[in-house]
Amino acid sequence: MDIIILPTAANVALAAADRIAALIARKPAAVLGVATGSSPQGIYAELARRVAAGDISFREASAFALDEYVDLPIDHPESYAAVVAREVIGPLGFDPDRVHVPDGRAEILDAATRAYDESIQDAGGVDLQILGIGLNGHLGFNEPTSSFASRTHVTKLTESSRQANTRFFPAIEDVPTHSVTQGIGTILEARELLLVAQGRNKAAPIAAALEGPLSSFIPATALQLHGNTTVILDEEAASGLRLIDHYRAAAKPARH
Ligand code: F6R
Repeated sequence: MDIIILPTAANVALAAADRIAALIARKPAAVLGVATGSSPQGIYAELARRVAAGDISFREASAFALDEYVDLPIDHPESYAAVVAREVIGPLGFDPDRVHVPDGRAEILDAATRAYDESIQDAGGVDLQILGIGLNGHLGFNEPTSSFASRTHVTKLTESSRQANTRFFPAIEDVPTHSVTQGIGTILEARELLLVAQGRNKAAPIAAALEGPLSSFIPATALQLHGNTTVILDEEAASGLRLIDHYRAAAKPARH
């Protein structure tokens, strides 16, 4: 795992945007896995700036969102379909037909989740998956005790996750109780994982995910099973890591 610790959240966004820009430069039709929530917002804003400046184009690229709430109307401003349209499709100039969000409103949810997994495979798989981490160590909406082998499926949100997301809703009662999420097995199939975390409240889940023993109770420990993961942290999010000095000093030899 490549662990990069940078001074501020702004540095994290720039460094993550650089990696995505490098992917698009070598593969304009890349398939991106996109997270929602606060963690990737700086990345999208930086990429949007580069798109506006004409430095990069996502016109040929595709994207698959990680998750979606169940039964939130599609035109609800906090449905992930709406968030992805607002923060990713529009500002980055994706072709809307090539951006996919799980269907949390399907009549038969299990069929929709299977179809979502298949559509990722039909697109050739995800080249780079952007990830944030939940306060309880969730990845996507794979809550504690999610199977590392899980595929896209319906999950019940923990109170911790609903509380964390009340900031996007008028009150806790308005936060949906269930979601559709890519499974951990689905996420682990992406060719590259890029996790970003900022702020002191992510220090404990980051330490558990990166340095703790593999445990379905901390779903993000599954990152340890992937051979091509980069984690970019600001100082605060890195502050709980026991080997923080080692990661700082672990720059690769110049002839790498
Ligand atoms: C969002 C997602 C979640 C978030 C996580 C962190 O699509 O799948 O796992 O990445 O809850 O959320 P923020 O970034 O808002 O702290």
